Amino acid sequence: MEAELIAWYGRAKRDLPWRHTHDPYAILVSEVMLQQTQVDRVVPRYLAWLQRWPTVEALANATAADVIRAWQGLGYNRRALALHHAAQAVAQDGWPDTLTALPGVGPYTAAALRNFAFGDVDILPHDVNVDRIERRTGHGFTGAAAQALMDLGATVCLARIPRCDVCPLAAACPSKGTRDTAARKQSRFEGSFRQRRAATLRLVSVADTPGESLDREAVEALVTDGLVIVLPNGTVALP
Ligand code: ADE
Repeated sequence: MEAELIAWYGRAKRDLPWRHTHDPYAILVSEVMLQQTQVDRVVPRYLAWLQRWPTVEALANATAADVIRAWQGLGYNRRALALHHAAQAVAQDGWPDTLTALPGVGPYTAAALRNFAFGDVDILPHDVNVDRIERRTGHGFTGAAAQALMDLGATVCLARIPRCDVCPLAAACPSKGTRDTAARKQSRFEGSFRQRRAATLRLVSVADTPGESLDREAVEALVTDGLVIVLPNGTVALP
């Protein structure tokens, strides 16, 4: 099954910028961005980020305010701060053996770094797409199939309406022609507290803003996460 997948990848692979590097910093930036945002939207932001901060030392020396501003629109702004803190830790002490010791790096991102940057090609990073393909096919893939699985999961073995007619694994797939029942949709962003937080952070990113004119609960949550500070005169600013 893996051989068919790898052959398909050779024909169909997407040319993505982070596939041309083994720099662990660049891989970390790409994986943190890809955790919440679609590939098409990540590509230009990834390229701009690396142009602005080409090395882990460059990012470590940036201000938190610049990092938060540069992350706008990528979602889940706490990840920007975690990435900044991770860069500071690596700039000071180097890459740790246990990558999950870095802020914002969980088991998935650690495995992606091991495989794509540090050459531990036996390690398969398990994200939702990889898990879904392994569940549907009943097959355990090796780390050599990681990028191919990500492409298959993003373009063919889709969660809601899989395209089995064009799938290289269909002949051997016990789930061919079946769909997952009521795949979970991401909860609504519109009208959510998450949206209120994002809108408030966007205002403060443009200019320091008097607290009275902002959503008070959103400001409190942003303060708790270290994304904004409240100055003694009540003005809300980036840290
Ligand atoms: N999603 C998460 N990591 C990815 C990667 N390295 N390539 C494409 N999509 C991804």
